[in-house]
This record gives sequence, C-alpha cells and structure tokens, in this order.
Amino acid sequence: MSKKIFSGVQPTGNLHLGNYLGAIKNFVDLNNDNQNECIFCVVDLHAITVKQDKDQLKNNIRETTATFIASGIDSSKSIIFNQSKVHAHAEGSWILSCMAPMGWLNRMTQFKEKAGKDKEKASVGLYIYPILMASDILLYDATHVPVGEDQKQHLELTRDIAQKFNKDFDCEDFLRVPEPLIKKDFSRIMSLKDGLKKMSKSDPSDLSRINLTDTKDQIINKIKKAKTDSFPLPNEEHKLKDRPEAENLLGIYSSVLNQTLDKTLDEFGGKNFSDLKSQLAEVLSSKISPISDEIKKLINDQNYLDKVLAEGANKANEIAGKKIKEMKKIIGF
Ligand code: AMP
Ligand code: TRP
Repeated sequence: MSKKIFSGVQPTGNLHLGNYLGAIKNFVDLNNDNQNECIFCVVDLHAITVKQDKDQLKNNIRETTATFIASGIDSSKSIIFNQSKVHAHAEGSWILSCMAPMGWLNRMTQFKEKAGKDKEKASVGLYIYPILMASDILLYDATHVPVGEDQKQHLELTRDIAQKFNKDFDCEDFLRVPEPLIKKDFSRIMSLKDGLKKMSKSDPSDLSRINLTDTKDQIINKIKKAKTDSFPLPNEEHKLKDRPEAENLLGIYSSVLNQTLDKTLDEFGGKNFSDLKSQLAEVLSSKISPISDEIKKLINDQNYLDKVLAEGANKANEIAGKKIKEMKKIIGF
C-alpha cells in the first residue's frame, strides 16, 4: 500500500545519533520505497517555542536540511521544506487550538519535562506545541508519521484532535487519522554517559552524544569514554535488565548494522566492553563520518540548500494551501 509520510525535525542544532537512529534513518528507508509519498519538514516554528539566536537559527535550518540530504533523503523524490514558509501551518494550528480541550494538553509529558519547575515562565507556544504538530500532519492527509518513541503521545493527541474536528463539524474522514511509525527495537537511544537518560541535544556534556557532524576521531574518543559497568557482556537479552549502559551500546551496534539484538548478543556474549567498544567505534565511524563529511560540504553550498527549501515550500504550499481552504470553508469562514 502506498503511504503518505510526514515528519519533522527541529532546527535546534547538534543533531545526534538518537535523531539519526530514532528518526532520520527511517525517513531514508521510507524515501527509498518508491511507493511512498514523503514530506520532511524542518520545523522552525516549533524551534522558537524556546529562545533562539537569530543567526544560529538561520544556520540550523540549513544544517538540518543538509543533514536530511547527507543522510540519503533525495529532494527530487521527497518534499523537503521549512515550516515557516508555509502559512497554513500556523493558521491550521490556531483553528485546531480552538477545538482542543486544555485537559488534553495538560497531560502532555514533554511540556512538563521542558517547562521544568517554573511552568509559569514557559512560553504559551511551548504549551500548544503539540497542536502545531497536529496541524503539520493533518494538512497533508499523512497516513504515517515516523518518529522516535518520545513523540508517541503527541501523535495520539493528533489522532484525537482529528477525530474531534471531524465529529464537531460533521465531516467524517475530512482530517485523516494518522498512524505512528515507531521502531519497535532501539527506539530510544540513551546518553553515552548515563544509560538511563535519553541522548539529547540539550545535554551539557558533548561526550553524552555522537553528533552527526563529529569527526572519526571524535566518535572513537566518545565511544572510548562511554560509561560501562564492570561485568562481561551477557549472551541473553533478559540479562541486560539493570545494565542500561550495556543495553544501550549493544542496541546502538545492532541498530547501525540493522541486525537483531540476539545476533549482537551472540557476537559479544562473554566478551568485555572493550571488545564491543572497539567494534562499535569502527561501525559508527564508517556509518557516520561520510554523513558528517557530506553535511560539511553541503553547508558551504547555501544557494543549493536554499533552492531545495524554496522548491519544497512551493510544493508543500500547494498541498497545505488547498487543505486549509477546505478547512476554513467547513468552519464557516
Ligand atoms: P527533535 O530533534 O527533538 O526535533 O527530534 C527529532 C526526531 O528524533 C524525533 O522523531 C525524535 O523522536 C527523535 N529522537 C530524538 N532524540 C532521540 C533519542 N535519544 N532516541 C531516539 N529518537 C530520538
Ligand atoms: N515534535 C517533533 C519532535 O520534537 C517534531 C515535529 C514537529 C514533528 N512537527 C512534526 C514530527 C510532525 C512528526 C510530524 O521531534
């Protein structure tokens, strides 16, 4: 069956191995399946829900675009664009904000995490962030949304909002209820310094993550310094319980090589972390360094990146513009 794919990544810099294995690698596989129609969005409107430096934001929009292309997304097959170029996203977000009950938003755990202790100081934008995400998805009649596990709750909200809109306005199936595409295994890549914390661009320690712009030497060094425990590696999955660092490194290895955890456990069971680390450094640097080199090359070609984004925005505008027009008609505007 052909799928309509939509996904987004924030241009907040430091894209890392978690973004790659949790999301971007799936985008590439979906892009390579000729049956699918894919739309990948650099969600710059989402990025400003927390304070951004103007010049940095501009660079990050291009860097995220470069990362998509360097990872293997083909801009002649898939639409790549940045959200702020397509007005319908913000307009749709307002309309959906007027449909979504506050009670639904109050349940969102990402807001609670990001707002921290002082909720009163968080922006209203951060609070309604998931509604903008729903607008992104619903404007394109997306059937499938590939994301990391942390976005599951936002997708459930998107589904609820679509169903409520269809019911409130008596327009069955107008907003397509999308399915999440979340990888079953290794959908959460953890910090290299703490196997219980998600690998994240906001972690103050750069040693906690492999950035997609890291050099081969940086990758080798970070894997060398990754946290371990003091036991040999197990040969069965259930023995990974309470060994988050072992689980994470074995999971990363399996995910990069597209192999099952069982196979990796067969390979390393009874061996020491140092054996795993040297193999992992090798597979990671051979996978990530070519992407890193390509990102650096593309970033120097701003005209090309801007052209990809402009062409993508034209195509996206055509689809989203039509949908928002119908949506406004349904409401009574
Ligand atoms: P963000 O950079 O927060 O916009 O996230 C972009 C995509 O990467 C989303 O689909 C996230 O779910 C995914 N992602 C971010 N961090 C991780 C992680 N540590 N493990 C797996 N997926 C992740
Ligand atoms: N909220 C997502 C994240 O932080 C990014 C995002 C915005 C997104 N709009 C989207 C993902 C639409 C999928 C579909 O990762």
